[in-house]
Amino acid sequence: MKIVLTTGQWAMILFITLISSTASYAATPEAASAVMTIDEESFSCIREMTPVRHFYVDNLLGDIEGTLAAANSPEGAVYPTGSVVQLVPTEVMVKREPGTFMASGDWEFFELEVNESGSTIVKRGFVDVVNRFGGNCFACHAPAKEKWDFICESGHGCEPIPINHKMTGALQRSDPRCGPAVLESGDTMALIKLKAMVGIGLTKKWLEDLF
Ligand code: HEC
Repeated sequence: MKIVLTTGQWAMILFITLISSTASYAATPEAASAVMTIDEESFSCIREMTPVRHFYVDNLLGDIEGTLAAANSPEGAVYPTGSVVQLVPTEVMVKREPGTFMASGDWEFFELEVNESGSTIVKRGFVDVVNRFGGNCFACHAPAKEKWDFICESGHGCEPIPINHKMTGALQRSDPRCGPAVLESGDTMALIKLKAMVGIGLTKKWLEDLF
């Protein structure tokens, strides 16, 4: 059977072809720019990030104002894509592209090794990253999901950790990626205490009691 198309039908086919090729053409650059490349080069000296209270923030897409606005919102807010949050040099949360992983609010968790020459990613993921003390990042941060977008701080619903801000401050001031440590009085003691706690398995014991 021979199919004969009228001029109107040909016009319609041409129109549909044009529309679909324009649509895919328009979608390609947008999709490409929306995916962030996150590797060990994405992380460096914690103290070069922007301090907020006792932790540090940054934004891999340049939207540091948006990240700061979320971090400083008294009622809590959803952090914008590209946000980086760190309390200690070896643990990082990065806000990925919308729809990347719903359960974790698009936060990707990273466990790093850091030394004078930079960072190495030991583990990364959304719900299955376990830190050096045997704790699951997502599970601990999940109680702060509502209102605080998984950011624990204090009073956001997460169980407190046995590491105080004197210790996290000492870890920030001795981040090996920043060059020589700039310790304040009491930092050496805080680091010795932290090391002892980890050494005798106190943090692990505390975690076992918790779960
Ligand atoms: C045992 C529970 C627990 C585990 C496991 C845990 N966190 Fe946290 N995290 C907390 C708590 C509680 C705070 C707030 C501490 C404070 O400021 O006093 C915190 C703070 C942070 C902060 C600073 C922003 C905030 O939420 O206050 C980041 C970033 C962070 N954790 C990332 C991680 C990553 C990445 C992992 C896994 C590699 C991880 N955490 C594992 C409980 C945990």
